[in-house]
Amino acid sequence: MKGIVLAGGTGSRLNPLTRVTNKHLLPIYEKPMVYYPIQTLVNAGIEEILLVTGGRNAGEFLRLLGNGRDFGLKHINYTYQEGEGGIAEALGLAEYFAGDEPICVILGDNIIENNICQAVENFKKQGEGAKILVKEVTDAQRFGVAEIRGNHVIGIEEKPKAPKSNYAVIGIYLYDKTVFQKIRRLKPSGRGELEITDVNNFYIEEGKLTYEVLDGWWTDAGTFESLLRANNLVAETGANKMSPKKNDKQAKVPEGVAR
Ligand code: DAU
Repeated sequence: MKGIVLAGGTGSRLNPLTRVTNKHLLPIYEKPMVYYPIQTLVNAGIEEILLVTGGRNAGEFLRLLGNGRDFGLKHINYTYQEGEGGIAEALGLAEYFAGDEPICVILGDNIIENNICQAVENFKKQGEGAKILVKEVTDAQRFGVAEIRGNHVIGIEEKPKAPKSNYAVIGIYLYDKTVFQKIRRLKPSGRGELEITDVNNFYIEEGKLTYEVLDGWWTDAGTFESLLRANNLVAETGANKMSPKKNDKQAKVPEGVAR
């Protein structure tokens, strides 16, 4: 599986913080924002990563991340989104990189407490279609909101005034290779963007979208309120925690060997 971090857009909601830099380079506690989504992918065993960025400060990503040494990577791929035509437009730029492989897409301002290893494993078994992750929130109208019936998501609405549930669709998506055909079918929304929610609804129409509820806290960091929240959560509890592996307890030492 390949990983894609979407870090384009202008971050206008954080003006003037974003007047001279890219939103994803702003600090979240002790690291730049973009470190967290990259680490989420790496922790899930995804090492072939493409970063999509844009704007006037795109070169700073290369200076900051280089070939990904801070993450134990040998290489990071980069591409550039002209303008800010939406999340799905940014993802469309990853078609060449993805080839025929399944992909894990993460928004550059999404930070999680734990990891997505189980969801990635489950999607590999699923073999086709898409998987989204959801999280119960108190301010659902800020997000894509999933309407869930039984074990199925029957529809997703982007920033609804009257949300049909409290389940926000978080910015981590697993897709098969058909995602790029779906992006080509999109029309700009009312806010002039190609919406990732429309892509997910295409998968729902095909009956090929599954969902899981994310374990641990999740936050975006694209508004002053959520940026502060992200800083506090990371400072207080830490992000991107790995669950202890079953066989990790203590390597067995042969009898009679001194420790
Ligand atoms: O955080 C989760 C939410 O993210 C989802 O619940 C929504 O369904 C989804 O539309 C998105 O909503 P936002 O309004 O918060 O998205 P925003 O415009 O802030 O963009 C989020 C990230 O996506 C941003 O940090 C970088 C990337 N992006 C965004 C745009 C508009 C791009 O790479 N290019 C773009 O043109």
